[in-house]
Amino acid sequence: MNFSKNFLEIKAALEKAGLFFIVHDDIIACMSTKLIIANWKMNPKSAKTAREIVASINKQSKNFGDVRLIVCPPFIFLDEVSNIISLSKKIFLGAQDVFVGQGVSHTGEIGIDQLKSAGVKYILVGHSERRALFDNDEIVKAKMLGSIKSGFKTILCVGEKERNEHGDHYHEVKRQIEDAIMKLPKKFVGNLIIAYEPIWAIGRPENEAIKPDQLREITIFIKRLLSDIFGAKEMEKVKILYGGSVTKNNFKEIIEKGNVDGILVGRESLKVKNFVELIEGIE
Ligand code: 13P
Repeated sequence: MNFSKNFLEIKAALEKAGLFFIVHDDIIACMSTKLIIANWKMNPKSAKTAREIVASINKQSKNFGDVRLIVCPPFIFLDEVSNIISLSKKIFLGAQDVFVGQGVSHTGEIGIDQLKSAGVKYILVGHSERRALFDNDEIVKAKMLGSIKSGFKTILCVGEKERNEHGDHYHEVKRQIEDAIMKLPKKFVGNLIIAYEPIWAIGRPENEAIKPDQLREITIFIKRLLSDIFGAKEMEKVKILYGGSVTKNNFKEIIEKGNVDGILVGRESLKVKNFVELIEGIE
C-alpha cells in the first residue's frame, strides 16, 4: 500500500469536508473527535497507583471510539504515565501547569523544555485551583502564550465563581478569555482549547454540574467571542470543553446538549471502571 498517496487522498477528502487539521507530531485529528482530559490534580498518592490506573485504562483503550484521552498527572508521575501510553494512538500526556520565566534558577518550578522532554503534548493553564493560589490574569496570559508558541496544545481554563441574575458571569468569562488571548497570533489558534469550568460546579455532587442549556448558552457566547477576536473561520479550530462534576451518569447530556467538544474530568477520572465506561459511552 502506498501510504503517503492514501494519506494525501484522505487528507484532501477531509479538508473538503472541513474536518481536517494537523497538530504537532503529525498527529491527525478531526474536529469531531471528542477530547477527554483527565485532570488528576494532586492524585494519586503513589507511583504504583498512578501506574495501575493508567495501565488499566490503556489496556481497555482499544474499545474507545472517536475520542482522544489526555491524562494530566502531577509532574512527579509524568514519566510513569508516559512509559505506559507511549505507543498509544488514543492517549496523550498532559501537564497541569507550566513555568514560563527565563533562566534556570527557579526552585520548585517545571519549565517548557522539561515538559517537552517528558513527552507532554498538552498543557493546562489557568485552572481555577491555580488561579486561587498563585496565578493572576497576567501570569495566565504569559503561560498561555509561552505554552502555545512552544508547540503545545494549550488548554486555557476559564470560569466564574458564581452566577447572579445580572449575568455577570458573561463579563467574567469574557475578561478571562480576552486577557489571555488578545495578543495571540492567528497562526497559533489551531492549538488553542478553551475549557469552561465554572468554579461553583467543581468538586460537587453530579446533580450540581452545569445544566445542559446553561452550558449551551455559554458555549455560544464563547464561540461568538472567539469569532469576534479571530474571525469565524479561525474560531472553528478552537475546541471548547466543559469541566465540573462530570461523571459517567451525566457526561452524555453535557456533551450532546451542551454542545461542547469534550470534557475535563477530575474525581471521576481516577475511578477506572466509571471512567472507562464514560469514555466508551462517547460515540
Ligand atoms: P471534578 O470533576 O472533580 O469536579 O473536577 C473538575 C475539574 O476541576 C477538572 O479540571
